[in-house]
Amino acid sequence: MPVIQVHDKQFQPYINEEQLQTRIKELAAQLNNDLQGSRPLFIAILNGSFMFAADIFKHLDVNAEICFIKLASYKGTKSTGNVVTAIGLDEDLFGRTVVILEDIVDTGKTLSQFLPQLEHQHPKKLMIAALLHKPEALQYPIKIDYLGFSVPNKFLLGYGLDYDGLGRNLPEIYQLVE
Ligand code: IMP
Ligand code: MG
Repeated sequence: MPVIQVHDKQFQPYINEEQLQTRIKELAAQLNNDLQGSRPLFIAILNGSFMFAADIFKHLDVNAEICFIKLASYKGTKSTGNVVTAIGLDEDLFGRTVVILEDIVDTGKTLSQFLPQLEHQHPKKLMIAALLHKPEALQYPIKIDYLGFSVPNKFLLGYGLDYDGLGRNLPEIYQLVE
């Protein structure tokens, strides 16, 4: 895989397709083991997680449901700061085993604002599966229950992740050349 150009920046290969798929199968095996009999609800956060969600879901052999949501951020009152709302979350989470599917946890801000809203509905269990995590960038404490790869604090592209709208189609993950 050569260096590629997207908009004004160059990206180099970082995690290849085989490494991604191998790790995803391992995560799915863990989930199959842990979630037996619980009829979990997976909540995939769009746009970035669509490839990860599709690939992991293919390897699940427990009875599972999936829904896809978008998070919209808007300015709340002074006291509430930025508010994140979920678009498309119609399911009732009460008593359910819920697994959030996220492409990447960077600062942790998005999830730390969103998770309390889900807790509000009193799921039986609320867990996070993230393909990627940048520990050095984390500013908001988030516990990731299922993690694909820990990565350095550099911008990544591909496999659902975009740079200004482009690059989501790449089947592997690239890293910004600095
Ligand atoms: P957080 O709220 O800082 O954890 O940001 C999470 C969101 O930012 C992710 O779901 C991605 O959509 C986006 N993001 C974070 N890091 C990257 C990256 O390296 N490449 C592309 N998108 C990213
Ligand atoms: Mg995302």
